[in-house]
Parts: sequence; structure tokens; C-alpha cells
Amino acid sequence: MLSYQHIYHAGNFADVHKHAILVELLKSLTAKNPKLAVIDTHAGRGSYDLLSEEAQKTMEFSHGAQHFWENDGLPDGLKKIVSKFNPEGDLAVWPGSAMIARQMLRPGDKLTCVERHPGEFAELQKTMADAVNTELQQKDGFQSIVEFSPPAIRKGLVIIDPSYEIKTEYVQTAKQVHLAWKKWPQGVFLIWYPLLEADGHRQLLTQLRKSEVKDVMVSEIRLAKAPSEGYRMYGSGIAIVNPPWPINVLDDLTNFIADRMPQKAHGDTYWLDNQPINPETGTI
Ligand SMILES: C[S@@+](CC[C@H](N)C(=O)[O-])C[C@H]1O[C@@H](n2cnc3c(N)ncnc32)[C@H](O)[C@@H]1O
Repeated sequence: MLSYQHIYHAGNFADVHKHAILVELLKSLTAKNPKLAVIDTHAGRGSYDLLSEEAQKTMEFSHGAQHFWENDGLPDGLKKIVSKFNPEGDLAVWPGSAMIARQMLRPGDKLTCVERHPGEFAELQKTMADAVNTELQQKDGFQSIVEFSPPAIRKGLVIIDPSYEIKTEYVQTAKQVHLAWKKWPQGVFLIWYPLLEADGHRQLLTQLRKSEVKDVMVSEIRLAKAPSEGYRMYGSGIAIVNPPWPINVLDDLTNFIADRMPQKAHGDTYWLDNQPINPETGTI
């Protein structure tokens, strides 16, 4: 069993980036569709206690969620949801992707959350104990991308947020999205990836770019400098297949977040479809 637990990283700058975009995506998709299905393939525990021993050990949220919260820097949609979980005003709880989706979905919408880790799954069950129209499955998230596409409600979003503990997960993610897209070409897929020194994300983007999957919009935030010594992630990336808005919407949101980061950061938004493939390396 692999050891990744998101509680050590909850509320970091990548979560702010990812969850801000998730909120805007759900806002748009719920406005456009009378019914929606959301499948969260790597759901984690759904909600994160920032006062827990694990979160306090790394304090990653201090250069992410906490900074945005204390400086009123969260985009309105995400701020509203975070406020609901922190009514006292001090930031103590960070809602994860599954909880954000549950908060934004309507009674007739359907949420499916997949998590493989037994401990995280047990926590997810507690978090979602009272959730309506919510199905929890303890199984492999990569297989679920294909298995749950398309959902019975044909309109929907698949949130794919692996831990990338194994290097092959970059290519695996792109391959599974391609397989799912063949079954459900109208599906919206949100894929998060870290920007790390080894640049494994290039394999993911290259594989996706070379596949039949089209209409892939990318948002990336790069830090000019690591937020703390030994911190390995220099940026956060999100690829969205079939985004519901024009590129300026994602560009504005990406820059909004990049401009409010505690350290210098650069936001970049582009269509993956337009990225040239280097003939020498075969990569984008
Ligand atoms: C980055 S965290 C997810 C965070 C969550 N999506 C959020 O935004 O709140 C990745 C999660 O994937 C889980 N995981 C790792 N490999 C998995 C797999 N093959 N199938 C399903 N879940 C997996 C980990 O246990 C971890 O909880």
C-alpha cells in the first residue's frame, strides 16, 4: 500500500488553484445542465482538519489556504464554501474536492467518490455520512475513469486528482482519459498534476496531445521560488477536457490566483491542442 495522505498537503497553493477552478467549473456546469453527474476518482477524505497533527506537521496550508484566507484572496465562489466550514472566522477546515462538489450539486445531481486507501476511505465515509445522492466506492480510481464514463446522467464532470506516487501514473492518467473520452466524447474531465523537477507532467500532456482527445485547456501556476526549503513542487497544473467556457475565463482565474500567491508566481493558460510536438524529443 502506498503512503500518500493528502492531509499533509491539504490547503497548499495547489489545492487553492485546483479547488478554485473546480468551483468555477461546477458553477458553469450546473447553470448549463438541469442534471449533472460528478465522479471524483481520487477523492481523498473529502474534508481536511488543518489543526490536525498531520497538517500542522508540514504547515503547507500556511503558504496556500491560510495566506489567501487572511488576505481575502480567495475567489468569491471558493470563499463562500470555505466560509461555510469556518463560521468562526479562523481557518481550521479545508473542504476537499468531494465536499466542494457535494456543496455545489443540487438534490437531483449525482456524486460518485472513489478512493482506494482504506484509511482515507473510512474518513471519506464519515465526511459523507449524511450526503444525499452520493455513492462511495473503495476501488482503483484510474479504472473508474473509464468504468463510470459515461454516467447514466449523460452530462457531467470527472475529477482526476492522483497522488502520482508512481511515475507511470502520468501516462496512465492520459491513457485512461483517452479511453473514457472514446466512450463519452462530451464528458468534461478535470486533471490535476504537479510540476516537479522530473517534469513527469510532460508525459501526461504529451500523451494527451498525441491522442484523439481534443479541446483541452490548460492552466498552470509556477512559483519563482520554493515556498520553503526542500519543497519540491514548483508549480501546479490543471488540464480540462471540454471546458464549458472560453479561454479568457480560465486565464483570468489563473492570473487572479497567481497574483495573490505569497511568493512571486506566474500564471499560464493555453490550449493543449495548439502545442507543437518537438520532432527530436517527441514531446510537447
Ligand atoms: C491528491 S489526493 C486527492 C485529494 C482530493 N481530490 C481533494 O482535492 O481533496 C490523491 C488521493 O488519491 C488516493 N489514491 C492513490 N492512488 C489511488 C488509486 N489508484 N485509486 C484511487 N485512489 C487513489 C490517495 O489515497 C489520495 O487520497
